Amino acid sequence: MKIIICKNYDEMSQTAAEIVAKQINSNPHTVLGLATGSTPVGMYKNLVKMNKEGKVDFSNVVTFNLDEYVGLDKDHPCSYHRFMDENLFNHINIKRENIHLPNGTAPSLEEECKTYEKMIAHAGGIDLQVLGIGHNGHIGFNEPGTPFHSLTHVVELAQRTIEANSRFFNSPDEVPRKAISMGIKTIMQARKILLLASGKDKAEIISKALHGPITTDVPASVLQLHPNVTVILDEDAASALDR
Ligand code: GLP
Repeated sequence: MKIIICKNYDEMSQTAAEIVAKQINSNPHTVLGLATGSTPVGMYKNLVKMNKEGKVDFSNVVTFNLDEYVGLDKDHPCSYHRFMDENLFNHINIKRENIHLPNGTAPSLEEECKTYEKMIAHAGGIDLQVLGIGHNGHIGFNEPGTPFHSLTHVVELAQRTIEANSRFFNSPDEVPRKAISMGIKTIMQARKILLLASGKDKAEIISKALHGPITTDVPASVLQLHPNVTVILDEDAASALDR
């Protein structure tokens, strides 16, 4: 694992955007795995800026997002579709048909999960997967206890995740209880992984994930088994690591 410690959130975001841009510049047909949450917002801002300045071209890039809430239409203000449109896709030269997120309103969620896996395989697999991390170590929406061999599946959100994500909704009651998420195996099949974390509140889980035992109790600890992971932290998120 390569660990890069940045001064603050802005530097973390800039560093992450440069790594993504470098990947796209070396392979314009890159298949990107993308994440939602507050953490990658700054990275997306930087990528939009670089795209406008002609420093990175998304015209042949294909994307697959990690997850989507069950029951939220893609135009729902709190859906991850909408989040991605607003933070990235609406502002870059990506082709609509190259954008993929699980459909949380599919008539058969089980079928949707299988189809999503097939689409990733058909695209040639994910070249670079961007990840954030939940306070309980979740990656995507793979909550503690998720088997490492899991593929895209329907998940029940943990209470802590519902509470954390309620900041995007009017109240915790409105947060969907389920989501479709790439599985741990889906994530681990990506050729490269970029894990981002910022803030003191992520320090403890980052230390467990990077240096603690590899266990399904801390889903992100599985990343220790991946051959090509870059972790970008700000000083606060790195503050519990032995350095
Ligand atoms: C959400 C997402 C994850 C994300 C995590 C952390 O539940 N499903 O993909 O990494 O929460 O979010 P944040 O970056 O806002 O702390």
